[in-house]
Amino acid sequence: MEKIVSLCKRRGFVYQSSEIYGGMNGCWDYGPLGVELKRNVRESWWQDMVTCHDDMSVLDGAPEAFEMCGLDCTILMDPQVWKCSGHFDLFHDKMIDCRDSKRRYRHDQVRGRWVEAKGERIFVTVNADLEAEETEARQKALKYFGYRSKDSDKLNWDVEFICLTEVSDHSRVLAPDSKELGTLTEPREFNLMFKTQVGALYDEDSVVFLRPETAQGIFVNFKNVIDSTRVRIPFGIAQVGKSFRNEITPRHFTFRVREFEQMEIEFFCNPASSQEWYRFWRDRRLDWYQRLGLSGERLRLREHDSDELSHYSTGTADIEYAFPFLAEGEFGELEGVAHRGDFDLRSHMDGKLDPKSDPLEVELGEDGKPLWRGSGRDLSYRDPISNERFVPHVIEPSGGVDRATLAFLCEAYTEDEAPDDKGNLRQRVLLSFHPRLAPIKVAVFPLVKKDGMPDRAKAIYRELKQYFNVFYDEKGAVGRRYRRMDEVGTPFCVTIDGDTIKDGSVTIRDRDSMEQRRLSVGEVITTVQKAIRSQGQEGLSCP
Ligand code: GAP
Repeated sequence: MEKIVSLCKRRGFVYQSSEIYGGMNGCWDYGPLGVELKRNVRESWWQDMVTCHDDMSVLDGAPEAFEMCGLDCTILMDPQVWKCSGHFDLFHDKMIDCRDSKRRYRHDQVRGRWVEAKGERIFVTVNADLEAEETEARQKALKYFGYRSKDSDKLNWDVEFICLTEVSDHSRVLAPDSKELGTLTEPREFNLMFKTQVGALYDEDSVVFLRPETAQGIFVNFKNVIDSTRVRIPFGIAQVGKSFRNEITPRHFTFRVREFEQMEIEFFCNPASSQEWYRFWRDRRLDWYQRLGLSGERLRLREHDSDELSHYSTGTADIEYAFPFLAEGEFGELEGVAHRGDFDLRSHMDGKLDPKSDPLEVELGEDGKPLWRGSGRDLSYRDPISNERFVPHVIEPSGGVDRATLAFLCEAYTEDEAPDDKGNLRQRVLLSFHPRLAPIKVAVFPLVKKDGMPDRAKAIYRELKQYFNVFYDEKGAVGRRYRRMDEVGTPFCVTIDGDTIKDGSVTIRDRDSMEQRRLSVGEVITTVQKAIRSQGQEGLSCP
């Protein structure tokens, strides 16, 4: 991973944000090559999922043909959106889970007391309020140490009850609803939303949030899209855009950051066929990564166990990649594909969040109604053919542009050996990107800086520029120039030599095989175009 990070900086893929001021944790800037790579990831997704989607064909594995359209919503939204989505309440505090009782607690609300007996010191937590906490703690401790009530004086208590936030070692903690030690997870911070304010007045009412996901913009525009276009269920709405999360521990380069880009689809379907659609999207999204070059064994699809699912979800699968910064056998999430049922549309309609999803106290407004009440708008759908009315179910493939870009970078990083200009074998570093993702598609070199070659090379460069991102280089030995292009993943190098001046043919060199062929400039264009569409892109990408 260190080699990849170093290459990214050296060749202009990724820089630390605000580096000259010491760097901003959790924020990374994309350099001249990084911005092209990331744009190619984003545009490949948009083309494959939206603009090149064929509304009329039934894709493999799909129950029927469907439509796709796009949306671009604002980052700032009405704060009520985040109340109904659950982010306001559920992303609000540090929470801890008990692996034994499966119960969840607010970290700052769990109280307990240290006690020592039989040479062991443990922290006993309680459910009871202040008055009853002492009794509950004593009963739990007696049970844990195998004492009877008459043995209470064998328990050596610390002076006072304290909050669990003051205890760093959870392995010594007896959870509120468990009889075993160490069942509490580490606290997890849910208040991930960044706050800001709108307008000149700085008060409670001016507080808004930077969106933590792009998905909610799609849900709240569901009715607008239906009313203003001719899309009919089943259909999907796609959006790519920045999201923000105040991650407590940003890490692993661009993997977990505070400002990132998501590419999300909310696919609306009839509840009766939603399971089939879930399976279709799960498999289709995995296939997308594979077609763009993520290899079999480092990429996997992992279905969530039932205890990992949100209460409203009947299926979630993560598409995961074995990033090199992870331990052997570990995988990191690239994308989640979730069956969200009708949870989001219902919440935005009538605010009926399932109480199970919200163990916190519900905040009431001045009118005594829950603050997370919905918009009151009817977000149900009437099928124009069957006349059936229903709240659509939603399948959500939700990926991260930055994580996908990082995975493609890691997968592409290769070291091999190649002969240098003198024919000696030397180590070569290359980024073997799929040509569609490569930031530069072709490099054009005059073999030498004389005999009219630079002028001819510049003319060819300008011609190719109309089709692709092309780079011109006339400095240094040609072998060195090849290596520099290999290192940034350029799939083709075109060299202009004496024969070019005579017959117009050029040498084209393939980055991966290093094979060279002579072609006309017209053939170079078709060769590069074919490579961009290659490796099973048929059926997914633009012709
Ligand atoms: N709407 C559903 C949703 O947002 P998520 O699993 O929280 O689901 C979806 O996020 C994707 O967004 C993740 O699979 C990941 O690729 C990306 N993502 C989430 N948090 C991220 C972060 N802090 N840094 C980079 N990417 C992130």
